[in-house]
Amino acid sequence: MTISFILYLLTCLFVNSESISRADFPDEFVFGTASSAYQFEGAVNEGNKGDSIWDTFARQPGRILDFSNADMAVDQYHRFKSDIDLMKDLGMDAYRFSISWPRIFPNGTGEPNAEGIDYYNRFIDALLEKGCSEIYHSGFTFIDDFEHYVFTCFQAFGDRVKHWITFNEPHGFALQGYDTGIQAPGRCSILGHVFCKTGKSSVEPYIVAHNILLSHAAAYHSYQINFKEKQGGLIGIALDAKWYQPISDSDEDRDAAQRAVDFGIGWFLDPLFFGEYPSSMKTLVGERLPMISSDMSKILVGTLDFVGLNHYTTLYARNDRSRIEKLILQDAYSDAAVITTSFRGGSAIGERAASPWLHIVPWGIRELARYVRDKYGNPPVIITENGMDDRNNPFISLDKALQDDKRIRYHRDYLSNLSAAIRQDNCDVRGYFIWSLLDNWEWNSGYTVRFGLYFVDYKNNLTRIPKASVQWFKSILRLKHNLRSQKLHANGLHGAISMEIKLISITEVDLVISI
Ligand SMILES: *[C@@H]1O[C@H](CO)[C@@H](O)[C@H](O)[C@H]1NC(C)=O
Ligand SMILES: *[C@@H]1O[C@H](CO)[C@@H](O)[C@H](O)[C@H]1NC(C)=O
Ligand SMILES: *[C@@H]1O[C@H](CO)[C@@H](O)[C@H](O)[C@H]1NC(C)=O
Repeated sequence: MTISFILYLLTCLFVNSESISRADFPDEFVFGTASSAYQFEGAVNEGNKGDSIWDTFARQPGRILDFSNADMAVDQYHRFKSDIDLMKDLGMDAYRFSISWPRIFPNGTGEPNAEGIDYYNRFIDALLEKGCSEIYHSGFTFIDDFEHYVFTCFQAFGDRVKHWITFNEPHGFALQGYDTGIQAPGRCSILGHVFCKTGKSSVEPYIVAHNILLSHAAAYHSYQINFKEKQGGLIGIALDAKWYQPISDSDEDRDAAQRAVDFGIGWFLDPLFFGEYPSSMKTLVGERLPMISSDMSKILVGTLDFVGLNHYTTLYARNDRSRIEKLILQDAYSDAAVITTSFRGGSAIGERAASPWLHIVPWGIRELARYVRDKYGNPPVIITENGMDDRNNPFISLDKALQDDKRIRYHRDYLSNLSAAIRQDNCDVRGYFIWSLLDNWEWNSGYTVRFGLYFVDYKNNLTRIPKASVQWFKSILRLKHNLRSQKLHANGLHGAISMEIKLISITEVDLVISI
């Protein structure tokens, strides 16, 4: 045994110490992995599918770091059966995936495409056969089209899907699609239209978000009226939810952190719980913020059966006293008058993952859970995404790429903080979804980063190879899983959670899709 081998063993022992396991969570708590149609499916022109806004966007030169697109992605369209075997082997309870709108409606609306419906039926049946349940993503255009789309999905799949998510990361979609324009559909006006040809960065994100809220509520009410009694499912939304820590103890920085949260999750949760936008938004955005009338308020309030949080990281927040960002950018991002940063006095808030925005700050998930508990009356919460990326480095050996100790530590520490939020702080958190089962196509970063528990060998027929984190998850999930399956089986149930619809496009794009 060489010294380095001994060190390696010690590292494994240390990292793999079972400081966390299923036993640290309530009996009904659900573990799963998350994905989205565009990042996973591939088969872009098969099954009579139409184009999504991401299909169009990713083909434009200069949009994606490595000039890739997701035409092939990780080919889950053809490989879902073996991918479901991987989930089962991991001991996962549920899968969160999205339905691609243009697979169901190649033209955005009209008659549903039988091949698309058939594909998702086979997919869902395969999941249920394995005792997993699903959660689900998808995309929308205008409110009527969206309502038509979700009605079709409820009708076709609602006998088996019991958890629906109407929109995924509407905050990120509104800002990245309509303020900075770096994501589809790529509209913006910042810096004098240098990057975009059309758009209005200080106005459109608010209109988009307003339409998303109305579409969400329409979907919720449609479900209550037409399906709830028979299907008994639950409807939620999945928000990109960073936590913000004041950079100092000063009142102005505390206020800034609160504003950052208001302009983040508050933008959506306040209207859905209280029927109005956060007061800081009303003050700072003024007339550009669409009005919520008292009639609309009644339609919005109470339309969430659970809150989905996609949480990856925490940032410091500082008051932008000079309003310098606003002066330069004239956009929605800068309305909050907050400067966010991962650094204080030269030190990072946590170790960095591959993506520059992703610093590892496990205590942030507990703060976030406590905030939602206090602000919104402890609603049921599902952590709909949590995970970290490594660089797709062509110069390291496969063995090294598979030894993802950093990912193991990430999940261990986020899970132990989440367990503390549930056990010690009484936060009503019901499930945890890892992003992601497989390495996949990461939006503007293309294939340059790897978020998977399984390594995907892009040079060798997309073969899935387990990283060390697969073994770790197996060991922490195994024990109780057997008990749990027996229990569920005895009750004739198929698991707690089901899917979500992730949506995306809004305004004047006639086809949209799940990203
Ligand atoms: C979509 O539109 C095209 C051309 O307008 C038409 O040929 C096709 O039948 C439509 N498909 C569906 C499923 O409505
Ligand atoms: C929470 O995360 C911190 C690091 O951010 C870690 O030191 C701690 O052990 C974790 N667990 C609990 C229960 O707080
Ligand atoms: C690639 O993998 C798929 C799925 O396992 C398999 O069906 C196919 O035959 C493989 N192709 C080649 C060229 O090996």
